[in-house]
Amino acid sequence: MVTILAIESSCDDTAAAVCRDGEILSNVIANQTIHEKYGGVVPELASRAHIQNIVPVVDDALKTADCQLSTIDAFAFTQSPGLIGALLVGAQFARSMALAMDKPVITVHHMQAHVLSNLIPQQRPDFPFLCLTVSGGHTQIVLCKNPLHMQVIGQSLDDAAGEAFDKSAKLLGLSYPGGPLIDKYAAEGNPARFKFPEPNIPGLDFSFSGLKTSILYFVQNEKKKDQNFVENNLNDICASIQSRIVSILLNKLQKAAEITGIENICIAGGVSANGQLRKSFTSLGEKMNWKTFIPPFEYCTDNAAMIAITAYYKYLDNDFADLNAIPSARAEW
Ligand code: KG4
Ligand code: ZN
Repeated sequence: MVTILAIESSCDDTAAAVCRDGEILSNVIANQTIHEKYGGVVPELASRAHIQNIVPVVDDALKTADCQLSTIDAFAFTQSPGLIGALLVGAQFARSMALAMDKPVITVHHMQAHVLSNLIPQQRPDFPFLCLTVSGGHTQIVLCKNPLHMQVIGQSLDDAAGEAFDKSAKLLGLSYPGGPLIDKYAAEGNPARFKFPEPNIPGLDFSFSGLKTSILYFVQNEKKKDQNFVENNLNDICASIQSRIVSILLNKLQKAAEITGIENICIAGGVSANGQLRKSFTSLGEKMNWKTFIPPFEYCTDNAAMIAITAYYKYLDNDFADLNAIPSARAEW
């Protein structure tokens, strides 16, 4: 029996989870609301909030899992990528517990963990599979050969899909994070009302910066004619923006499936919580005869369960880190 306690603190969520033999026993998250009024995550405030949250969050994860600290076989933490001050809090806490309990540490790459969130539910993809990982900092198409062997075959050349949602929302005067708000207003809107351009990027890479600029000019022009244009048309604008972001993502995913011939296809990351993306991905899968997989909501946005499941496979592979392992803001994998 292998029991792992994992910590995730790469951005603005303090999270801890306990996993036993690949099954998640607890998954606790403290969201930081302090950033809302600043229109984005303030790194220093995130670090301070992690320090405040980490003890109660870890305590809650152990209690919910009905687990004593002494029964933990390894302590895992997100090593990269992320905000360095935020990562340091989780890394230091996990390493300290490992030192005190004389147990190994396991370091986890946040983006690899998003992909493996698809291995948490009972219904899991067979290998190899493709995963469209869409978060606030990354947009990637990943070819996953086994839990510990994956390759990025396409990625964004500029903004991530989550950033495209958040920055568009900001232009519309919505608060941070704007992705869930666009999702909410879009549900009542007409996606065909306004047309935004699809960038022409070769291969499997993405670009979202042109879309952001076209939304900026569109809003500025329409506001010259009607000061209340955004307020009066919010649902349709959100639906039209969302529909374009989703079509950019799924067109490339379809291309990746055609090129690789792989038919087990997953999505992951915060943007995979988006209602339209989930719906359109499922319909595309039915049309293309793919086997599609979408993690439950709680494993889409940042969470420690995905860190725990990744650490579990690393444990089975004897892939332990040095007790001095330090986090890093950026890292290849
Ligand atoms: O994976 P995640 O929680 O954190 C990172 O690793 O970045 O992703 C956060 C991103 C944010 O950009 C947020 O706006 C977006 O995911 N997001 C959504 C939705 N829920 C979260 N975007 C669109 N629709 C949603 N429902
Ligand atoms: Zn993430």
